[in-house]
Amino acid sequence: MHQIEAIQFDCSGAIDPEWGISREQIEALAGKLEAIRESVFLEDLPLLKSGGAIPPEKQPLDTAFVDLPDRMLDEYEVSRPTCELTSILRTAKRFQGMVDRVVVLGIGGSYMGARALMEACCDPYFNDLPVGHRGGRPRVFFAGNNVDNDSTRGLLQLLQATNDPGNPQSRWGIIVISKSGGTLETAAALRQFINAWKESFPGLNLGDYLIPVTGETGKLADLATAIGCSERFKVPDGVGGRFSVFSAVGLLPAAVMGIDIIKLLRNAAWMNDHFRLTPAATNLVLQFVAANHLLEIHRGCHIRVLSVWSNLLESTGLWYDQLFAESIGKRELGALPLTVVNTRDLHSRAQQHQEGRRDKVINNVRLARTRTGPLPVGRTGWNQDGLDVFAEKTLAEIMQAAIQGTNAAYHEGGRPTTMLTLPMADESGLGQLMQMLMLATVVECRLVGVNPYGQPGVENYKKHMQRFLRG
Ligand code: PA5
Repeated sequence: MHQIEAIQFDCSGAIDPEWGISREQIEALAGKLEAIRESVFLEDLPLLKSGGAIPPEKQPLDTAFVDLPDRMLDEYEVSRPTCELTSILRTAKRFQGMVDRVVVLGIGGSYMGARALMEACCDPYFNDLPVGHRGGRPRVFFAGNNVDNDSTRGLLQLLQATNDPGNPQSRWGIIVISKSGGTLETAAALRQFINAWKESFPGLNLGDYLIPVTGETGKLADLATAIGCSERFKVPDGVGGRFSVFSAVGLLPAAVMGIDIIKLLRNAAWMNDHFRLTPAATNLVLQFVAANHLLEIHRGCHIRVLSVWSNLLESTGLWYDQLFAESIGKRELGALPLTVVNTRDLHSRAQQHQEGRRDKVINNVRLARTRTGPLPVGRTGWNQDGLDVFAEKTLAEIMQAAIQGTNAAYHEGGRPTTMLTLPMADESGLGQLMQMLMLATVVECRLVGVNPYGQPGVENYKKHMQRFLRG
């Protein structure tokens, strides 16, 4: 058994007879949530058992993300030499030895998870560190998530400027991720980066430096075959883009960065066990859903502010914004997710959260511990700033005071809050948190009668964009 230090969730900041919800309301929802929980694990089984087709309103039914961490780990235990995790780790190691920089191309669910993992689990200045300080791992850049001329050209120029044809250490490679294999932003960027790569490394074989993660079939799969990519990974069947962080979509880039993907999956799998076995009253996923849903329907809290108390969690918040918005924003339903980074955004958005419309719940995410040693304010020999009084205080202590102070102010103003505490910004915190938020999103979508999977509205913009492009 692996020791897991669990996330904690506290919704006492949302309990109030005048402006919040009650414990009784949460308890009253428990039976319904537990019934939905069963369907999250089993929802495709009755259909499969009866050999029946999935009804149109349930399509797509992409439930395979749920036990993906467990399946990946089981295979790793039982058939280690041939399983996918071993291939991911082996490929990551090969890439680490071959290239100094990796460009990860992908958009939406095909890159946001990997970016969140990088920001939370790697050194904050990972790409700026000398190679020895990065443990020999390549720098990682994300592109293909926009059609932005200047930023794309900027990265192409950076790659070129730091390229030394005589030095194998300065080579770069590409990981391209697209489940459909046909997303324009990613496909257009792939062409540009392929051309830049061919220009930089005329004698080398592109197929060894380009790793696609895509569906079994599709344009990218065909292209990978035509190029002769020596390795490729599959987005598993039944796993939607924004639910795919624990497949090769998130795990391959994470492994290249040196993130411990086994630890990540173990913590995600722990969250599955917790979700499956724990009664609603103490179930992290169900309590999170209950508090947020009840605040929305009883108190009009249509805005979910995810207030992350660390710079390392900003991209995790943006990953969640996408996950929640694309899943629940259908049939004119669904709260608006909004990530803020504090204390930074106390100086930009907090005024509105404290005194603006009463349409928000603040879901705090804080870290129980910092990854690095405590950093005190210190002394400089001058005290014009009046800070000698806090000279021995560490940044973590000031952060703690800010969290307590801000939430006390919200409470005083009748503004509901909840508190998620992660052990640390690392594989344990992220493995649990990401699986928890994916499960919570599915449960809440089912609760309000929305299919969490698919994004029909997004397809519509693509149709119109093609029309304008073709003139
Ligand atoms: O969550 C989703 O399914 C979407 O955000 C997709 O990830 C995004 O549209 C990219 O699609 P694809 O991976 O097919 O290029």
